[in-house]
Amino acid sequence: MQDNQQPIIMAGKPVAAALNDALKERVARLNAAGVTPGLTAVLVGEDDASQIYVRNKARACERLGLSGQVIRLPDTTAETELLDVVAELNADRTVHGILVQLPLSKQIDEHKVIAAIDPDKDVDGFHPVSVGNLVLEMPGFVSCTPAGILEMLKFYEIETSGKHTVVVGRSNIVGKPMANLLMRKDRTGNATVTVCNSRTPDIGKFTREADIVIAAIGKAHFITGEMLKPGAVVIDVGINRIPDSSTEKGYRVVGDVDYDSALPVVSAITPVPGGVGRMTIAMLMHNTVLSAEKSSGVNDV
Ligand code: GUN
Repeated sequence: MQDNQQPIIMAGKPVAAALNDALKERVARLNAAGVTPGLTAVLVGEDDASQIYVRNKARACERLGLSGQVIRLPDTTAETELLDVVAELNADRTVHGILVQLPLSKQIDEHKVIAAIDPDKDVDGFHPVSVGNLVLEMPGFVSCTPAGILEMLKFYEIETSGKHTVVVGRSNIVGKPMANLLMRKDRTGNATVTVCNSRTPDIGKFTREADIVIAAIGKAHFITGEMLKPGAVVIDVGINRIPDSSTEKGYRVVGDVDYDSALPVVSAITPVPGGVGRMTIAMLMHNTVLSAEKSSGVNDV
């Protein structure tokens, strides 16, 4: 911690609330023009975490006045069947956003399915066209978790320009898009970016040099306080369940950062739960509204 100041606990709730307030106004303008933004999630199989994510997305749609649909398909669904469903959604003018929940069953090629989604409806930002637009700094949908992290950095007035940012994790959903966003010539970019992965020897050597650490490696408590530079800003993307017999469910959710040892070292940190998690859904709603605005010509985007 710097200058004996208390670290800033960067909660996601006020950031998501501010975004949602602005979105409600945009939805009202769309409604007045006879348009209801529509998001359809496709869920294959019974994965516990995926069920929870999809349920939370449907609830968020309801809260904001979007039309949220969930198509549930059995674990045994063939790739061609899923591609047919995607083709139908592409053709449906009431659907502005299509989200195929990942991971998919092993008989289905994830890349093929994502590539089949109309890029104009790719509110997850996973389509190769969306990824290309991001890398080339052209307008397009951006993966929701990294986009939400940028909103948090803006809200809490964290400067990224000229800062050494270490992204721990190289997933297509978080690590890669995050690194690209931070490199952009933009208000929340212009950072010097290092990307570590699970094969990087001595990750602490890199994180100890970082002004900003983005932990997205999917390992509980992986980043400890002694791996951080005093005064660092820490964004914890991890959502890991660890056994805890003192809770009713027998587990609790923790991040990729060992919060207790990190807190005395950092100048700002996102908690888990209550940090980045909320932002993902807020940005998904944002992308869906944006898609409805673009296709309808309402709100002049
Ligand atoms: N699985 C885990 N996170 C996500 C996400 O943001 N979108 C989709 N489609 N699947 C996921």
